[in-house]
Amino acid sequence: MTQLYSQLQTYEEQLTKLAKVVDLEAYPIHDLDHPVTKELVARCKVQLDDIGCSVIADFVRPEAQERMRLEARRLMPCIFRSEQKHNPYMTKEDKALAEKHPNRYLQRRTAGFINTDIIPQESDMLAMYDNDIMTRFIGECLGVWPIYPWADPLARCPYGVLEDGDYFPWHFDGNEFTVSVSVEQPEEGGTFEYAPNIRSVDNENIDGVNRVLNGDKTNVYELEWKPGYLQLFKGRYALHRVQEVKGNGAWITALPTYMTDPDTVNRPEHSKQFYGRALPIHFEREGNRPDSLSD
Ligand SMILES: [Fe+2]
Repeated sequence: MTQLYSQLQTYEEQLTKLAKVVDLEAYPIHDLDHPVTKELVARCKVQLDDIGCSVIADFVRPEAQERMRLEARRLMPCIFRSEQKHNPYMTKEDKALAEKHPNRYLQRRTAGFINTDIIPQESDMLAMYDNDIMTRFIGECLGVWPIYPWADPLARCPYGVLEDGDYFPWHFDGNEFTVSVSVEQPEEGGTFEYAPNIRSVDNENIDGVNRVLNGDKTNVYELEWKPGYLQLFKGRYALHRVQEVKGNGAWITALPTYMTDPDTVNRPEHSKQFYGRALPIHFEREGNRPDSLSD
């Protein structure tokens, strides 16, 4: 069992740290019986059921968001940037499949990650992430419990970065839920689009995925996304992308990731592709996956 960093801190320590990042007067997420919190959780649940996505505006205090932005900017020289083509499942192309199968729909991706293992432990983002109070609140909103901060040392809570000309094409996430916090928005582009509930654990819905890849926007939503906003997203079942970023500024998003299985990590191939490295833990745990969906 993974030792969670939050287990080394008392409740009061975690509450104090969280209060510096989240406005607990506007959003008293430490008190799940508070009427404001109950209403917030109820709203998130309804939206997640309906469209697999819910946003909490101004969740992070402006000063904490600015500290996160400066932290990401400081760490930019250490970013792992990659450019490659991939299909929506992030798997190798299978030429035995029909040419129109989404597995063979390859798009160019240029993006970067500031890996979690180089982010200082005193980071505002990690204070929010390695925090039982936050985890409990997120679990309430998702309607899933228990959930845990992810065991993957690189991918558990990185900054995702897209700069001028970068594009993150249509894909499914390897994890069931994603929590994102906008840290910086570019001058132009960077719009998040998603097709909710387009596949399920036992139905890949190849035809529906193909329609979106071919430009059908009938069931595609655009996210209103500003610095300090928090997004809850079911990315394993929703096809999604970030449109090409243009001009000055960058799309910088903190990606605190939660799992129902605390021990699962990315496959080695996925870790190398996205984070530039695979660690021993990625190989050791490769066979330990919760389901057989492609990712
Ligand atoms: Fe994603």
